[in-house]
Amino acid sequence: KLKIAIIGSGSTYTPELIEGMIKRKDILPIDELVLMDIDARKLEIVGGICKRMIQTENLPCRVVMTQNLDEALLNASFVLCQIRVGKLPARVLDETIPLKYNLIGQETCGIGGFFKAMRTIPVMLHIAQRMKELCPDAWLINFSNPAGIITEALLNHSGVKMLGLCNVPFNMFKSIRETLQAEHASFTYVGLNHLSWITAIEQDGKDYLKTALEMGLNSEAMKNIPSSGFSKELVQMAGAIPSSYLEYYYFKDKKLNLLKESELTRGEKCMQIEEELLNIYSDSQLHTKPDLLSTRGGANYSEVAISLVDAIYNDKQEIHVVNLLNKGALDFMEDSDAVEVCAVIGKDGAEPIKVHDFRNKHIIDYMRMVKAYERETVAAAVSGSEDAAMRALLMNPLVGDYNAALNCFNELKEAHKDYLPLF
Ligand code: G6P
Ligand code: MN
Ligand code: MN
Repeated sequence: KLKIAIIGSGSTYTPELIEGMIKRKDILPIDELVLMDIDARKLEIVGGICKRMIQTENLPCRVVMTQNLDEALLNASFVLCQIRVGKLPARVLDETIPLKYNLIGQETCGIGGFFKAMRTIPVMLHIAQRMKELCPDAWLINFSNPAGIITEALLNHSGVKMLGLCNVPFNMFKSIRETLQAEHASFTYVGLNHLSWITAIEQDGKDYLKTALEMGLNSEAMKNIPSSGFSKELVQMAGAIPSSYLEYYYFKDKKLNLLKESELTRGEKCMQIEEELLNIYSDSQLHTKPDLLSTRGGANYSEVAISLVDAIYNDKQEIHVVNLLNKGALDFMEDSDAVEVCAVIGKDGAEPIKVHDFRNKHIIDYMRMVKAYERETVAAAVSGSEDAAMRALLMNPLVGDYNAALNCFNELKEAHKDYLPLF
């Protein structure tokens, strides 16, 4: 019996996932789909449109809506997690408070992402704990952010089988294949979540990276990142194509100024889009996903998530980019570091593909620095140690300064106190 549980199903992104399931209805025979959320209003509104989509397509699966985690997890085969602890208002605090200290407020990078990790890791560890009892063989597939740090925490502090996901690699590959007119290009993708580069492009034995570097090729920017793009000189300096999240690092000062000048934060914009979407979803005549959803940054994430479920369930032995333990794939990282790389996916899970002779020192050094931050961040989240928190923030290239970090930490800690049981 194939049971899929979506934890955080009140997210307005959920119809995306349903669309992915509908697309694969013949190869992914879902018996039961459980939509779980603690927000009764969103559970019902988003659940309603999901149910109508499923009925319209005549999927034979039973749909259950619940606010009870254990009920959702019991005997599940796949648990898809997309939670946002404290919801969008907490994101807005992560985005606005750092600006007062001249720090970048972003939901996954910098000190904003740090606090999102502090709120989310304890809840994810709890879910993993319950899974061990209620569905010990299930796969936990997580897109809750910060996805890389959550993977780092869960794979080192819970015994659950899990993979972390992001839509950035998929979108980078798609746009680069289009620009280079290399439909079947294969890529070497190296990095951590939201800190990643494409370091090789190949098709039919031809090296397309060289062409890409000569052109100063960029991948299409994510919808949620107001992008200025990378110059040819920058791309050549890096020797690789950076993901658009690298703008926060490479253009730190410019980004900070743009964030300070902008009237609404991304989270505030998302709150508006969310209300509009909930309004649309409430229309009982609507049976399909509205276009408005594509204005969020999560484009193609259903494809990424459901194709991964398909690859595991049907033992496809396909290559997907996932967040998982390095296990020697990158010889310059620890085996126990969560990394975002290509892996072969089948019924036993994911095997990271070893990257041989990797010599891009810029990327090696950058990944090690940010991984040092991530490791200490996980240590802070599981211990509640403020010293660990400060050690983490000092390693983060978007923070760095002790006084700014400490003052901002204290203000964010106070602002988020309902969601930080350990601090
Ligand atoms: C991208 C990232 C996701 C992130 C999303 C934010 O897709 O890969 O990790 O959640 O953007 O988009 P939003 O519309 O919420 O700003
Ligand atoms: Mn992402
Ligand atoms: Mn996402």
